[in-house]
Amino acid sequence: MDLLKLGYTHKQAALLVKKYRLIDYFKLPYKSVIQAKRFNNGSLPPDLSLVTKYRSFQWIYDLLTGYGNTIIRNESNLYQNKGLESGWTAMRPPLAYECVKDNFCSPHTIHQYSRDIIGFLDWVSEPWLNIRQRITLPILSSLIITGSMLTNSLMKNNNKTIWDYIPIPRCSE
Ligand code: HEM
Repeated sequence: MDLLKLGYTHKQAALLVKKYRLIDYFKLPYKSVIQAKRFNNGSLPPDLSLVTKYRSFQWIYDLLTGYGNTIIRNESNLYQNKGLESGWTAMRPPLAYECVKDNFCSPHTIHQYSRDIIGFLDWVSEPWLNIRQRITLPILSSLIITGSMLTNSLMKNNNKTIWDYIPIPRCSE
């Protein structure tokens, strides 16, 4: 169903997931953690669904754009990356110039892809954020209005009974 939220029509989404149902989760690309590590220089590819919550946009941007044009590998099979403090990462460069085929007019550069991906990952971390922000104010104001109307009508009916119980101080002369 997330494919629909991304803007695909039912038909397009059905084509993408042919063998599966729309409510299925995406299948993991590796059979096990061991296999995932084996294919990635001993490191496990992280779950990126919440990455924008624990890493800053700038950090992710520096990582994605930090490979430069010449990718250098060291003896432990790590790739050089200027964006990281250690200077090396187990992740192969995921982006390349013109690696995305689309009809948009945005530039096909790693810098632009990185910006788009970060925007997407931020949406992924909280897909309901926009809707939540849009409905919070109307819900809160309607609650306040209903609450004050209710209190007002209750007070009107009970005014006498409520105030009756409060002893009026008398001056003793
Ligand atoms: C555009 C797509 C991708 C993005 C945006 C991305 C992003 C990231 C980020 C932000 C990290 C660092 C996480 C952290 O330390 O908190 C990371 C690490 C990693 N990613 Fe990717 N990644 C992408 C594609 C891939 C692909 C296709 C693979 C391999 C199948 C991969 C394998 C890894 C591995 C193995 C690490 C751990 C690196 C290490 O510990 O040195 N990534 N990725």
